[in-house]
Amino acid sequence: MYKIVTRRELVPHINLFEFSAKEIAAKTKPGQFVILRIDEDGERIPLTVASVDVGKGTITVVCHEVGKSTKQLGNLKQGDCILDLLGPLGKPAEIGKLGTVLCVGGGVMVAPLHFQVRAFHEAGNKVIGIIGAKSESQLIFEDEMREVCDDLYVATDDGTRGYKGLDFLKELLKERKIDRVVVMGPVVTMKTVSELTRPHGIPTIVNLIPIMVDGMGMCGACRVTVGGKTMFACVDGPDFDGHQVDFEELMARMKMFTPQEKLAFVFQEEGGRRL
Ligand SMILES: Cc1cc2nc3c(=O)[nH]c(=O)nc-3n(C[C@H](O)[C@H](O)[C@H](O)COP(=O)(O)OP(=O)(O)OC[C@H]3O[C@@H](n4cnc5c(N)ncnc54)[C@H](O)[C@@H]3O)c2cc1C
Ligand code: FES
Repeated sequence: MYKIVTRRELVPHINLFEFSAKEIAAKTKPGQFVILRIDEDGERIPLTVASVDVGKGTITVVCHEVGKSTKQLGNLKQGDCILDLLGPLGKPAEIGKLGTVLCVGGGVMVAPLHFQVRAFHEAGNKVIGIIGAKSESQLIFEDEMREVCDDLYVATDDGTRGYKGLDFLKELLKERKIDRVVVMGPVVTMKTVSELTRPHGIPTIVNLIPIMVDGMGMCGACRVTVGGKTMFACVDGPDFDGHQVDFEELMARMKMFTPQEKLAFVFQEEGGRRL
């Protein structure tokens, strides 16, 4: 059993959880994820680690309530325990001294992006950050990102805070010399940023989070096509070259179970019946 030592609502429907998990904390590097199960009937929920405290023996994840299982997790409180926490999974992000790194984060994935940004900063890079959300009320980790970024830009889809959308990035890419771009967030954000950096030839790493089941390369659920080759995001990634990813296929595969997911959520809301 893994205990929740901290649970904090960051904004409505996005919660931070710090779990007591000494062995996982000791091994986890930025970019890696865990898969958790709340109880014996629980679905497996992959979440990217947002920070570790090796001394305390804890890992922190930030979870957006988007469906049945993430809502169940959101209902847990500090002091509660979950059944399983498997990890660290996936390859760590490649952190090195590269020069200037532009890190773009959207929605809940700004939290795990911050783990990488801190590592790039500590490795001696100049880090430009861009954080985004649908609206100002959904922005997370702004103060934490400001601490470790040399420059930080804020953007929202509806323009309620900072730039409206990512169009301003076109100018930024012309004005600044950027050696590496890292993107974590919705697929559409990763696709847009990769298209914008392609003409500049800037290496662009995207963090793919397709539907996963085992997280260990055996079930095939997380299949993605990169550079015309089939890869499994859980073991070959989750980081890939954004200029090589087949984003259309990824988007289609992520919508495969939408009717079942909607149904499960409705049953959950109406009294916790299991499907
Ligand atoms: C490697 C990895 C790391 C992840 N890291 C985080 C994280 O740090 N924080 C976080 O909040 N979420 C993260 N996710 C997404 C999270 O695992 C899913 O949102 C969750 O499993 C959905 O479960 P559910 O039962 O609540 O919703 P479901 O009923 O399964 O789905 C509800 C909605 O969410 C969408 N959805 C389902 N799975 C994903 C997915 N993998 N990515 C995006 N949308 C999805 C569905 O299309 C549907 O519209 C990660 C996923 C992967 C594979
Ligand atoms: S989740 Fe099963 S192969 Fe990746």
